[in-house]
Amino acid sequence: MKELLLLCLLLLSGGQRSLACPHLCSCHGAQVNCSSRSLTSSSLPTSFPAGTTELRLHNNRLSTLPNGLLDGLSSLRSISLHGNPWACDCSVLYLRAWLLRQPAGLASHLGVNCSSPPGLRGRLVVYLTEEEVLESCHYWYCDLALASQICLFVFVVVQAALLVALIIFLRKFERLSREAKRTTEESFTAGESQRENEYAPLKDSSI
Ligand SMILES: *[C@@H]1O[C@H](CO)[C@@H](O)[C@H](O)[C@H]1NC(C)=O
Ligand SMILES: *[C@@H]1O[C@H](CO)[C@@H](O)[C@H](O)[C@H]1NC(C)=O
Repeated sequence: MKELLLLCLLLLSGGQRSLACPHLCSCHGAQVNCSSRSLTSSSLPTSFPAGTTELRLHNNRLSTLPNGLLDGLSSLRSISLHGNPWACDCSVLYLRAWLLRQPAGLASHLGVNCSSPPGLRGRLVVYLTEEEVLESCHYWYCDLALASQICLFVFVVVQAALLVALIIFLRKFERLSREAKRTTEESFTAGESQRENEYAPLKDSSI
């Protein structure tokens, strides 16, 4: 029973990767055609059949490819990626590295060009230097770092203000309680002496 279940699971998970044609694409043998389907980075299939030899992804609205998407496709002989608005920020590093690893002729570098950021528009993805790409990431990191620094600073200032307020309050409280103690002592002794004075004439009159 257990073995049967395992086998079913294996077939299901393995089958999805190796046989099924991805949703929104059309397949012809090992050729997978996902071109001109207005695919975005989020509607793009999460995997392609392992035996895919030709993969068409051109003329879509892809701005980035998920890391590792093309890694398992060892039989791939051609791929088309042109006609997509590639965003050349940190997220393009996977596509760039993958293109650089491919033997010449498998993927045409032509048309795989950036549409953002403005400074890199029209540039071919493979010819971007790592520094150019990282520059767009640094800003992001810097903003985040700056924001967290400011938050930390505000937090520390608020903490300090609270501490000062607490110290002032405690000092005031101490002084008030000391004064209160003194006045009760004073009134107590005053009351006692008054009572003595009250008793004295009483004693006098009773005699
Ligand atoms: C791929 O699909 C698109 C859109 O359906 C179609 O226009 C094109 O002819 C197909 N290409 C191939 C080679 O099948
Ligand atoms: C970028 O690629 C598109 C096709 O995807 C092409 O029409 C355009 O001329 C290219 N731009 C540059 C500057 O190479």
